[in-house]
Amino acid sequence: MGFFKRKEEHIDPDNLPKHIGIIMDGNGRWASRRGLPRNVGHRSGAQTLKKITTLCSEMGVRALTVYAFSTENWKRPKAEVDHLMLLLKEYLSKAEEELAGKDNRIRVIGDITPFSEELKQLIAHIHKLTEHQTGLTLNIALNYGGRNEIVAAVRHIVQSGVKADEVDEALVEQYLYTAENPPVDLIIRPSGEMRLSNFLLWQSAYAELWFSNVLWPDFNEKHLRQAILEYQKRHRRYGGI
Ligand code: FPP
Repeated sequence: MGFFKRKEEHIDPDNLPKHIGIIMDGNGRWASRRGLPRNVGHRSGAQTLKKITTLCSEMGVRALTVYAFSTENWKRPKAEVDHLMLLLKEYLSKAEEELAGKDNRIRVIGDITPFSEELKQLIAHIHKLTEHQTGLTLNIALNYGGRNEIVAAVRHIVQSGVKADEVDEALVEQYLYTAENPPVDLIIRPSGEMRLSNFLLWQSAYAELWFSNVLWPDFNEKHLRQAILEYQKRHRRYGGI
């Protein structure tokens, strides 16, 4: 039987995506299929995030940007929004002890102005605590929208008094939330949906996209490896030949 066994593929450590974006989709369906409330799906999704962050960090991925709450997610029932906020609070409060001994940097990206003072303080605390860490950067996108990010960048540029003919792509990039991170190489969207839903619109210009039917709470090491192996097979041409 061993004869028929497919040769196991290995991830090439020299061709790792430096920056991965993930749309953590499918929590609600995962819960409904089990007859559970949607909140249980989100809680399970938060556990998956911890595992995938550790795996990416161990592999040597430099940055991971995850879509945790979009500018459109306010349209959800208040109870669901409240629970997502609670999960974020729990996640950020525990991050300190869970990060002990790890070198990861945590940043929240997006417009956090509408969040509670408590959440804002937690975010500021975790930023300060991890700002000098040199391992993987985990960007948690909260009240984030790609269009909104570009509008905010343009506003800052105008406020800085930059002249129109000084505006170029490199300058706009300096004003995006991901300015300090390497370019986004790979975007992963589980749950069977095949769109970007306003995630990393500027940064996805040349990113490779990987879609799967797996629901986010079920996403595991096997899926991460599949996505990276597929990425490593792609020939990135950046508009050339
Ligand atoms: C989309 O699934 C997921 C979200 C809107 C929330 C993502 C949040 C988490 C994974 C957990 C919280 C994050 C942190 C950082 C603690 P969906 O609810 O749209 O699923 P569905 O499409 O199946 O309904």
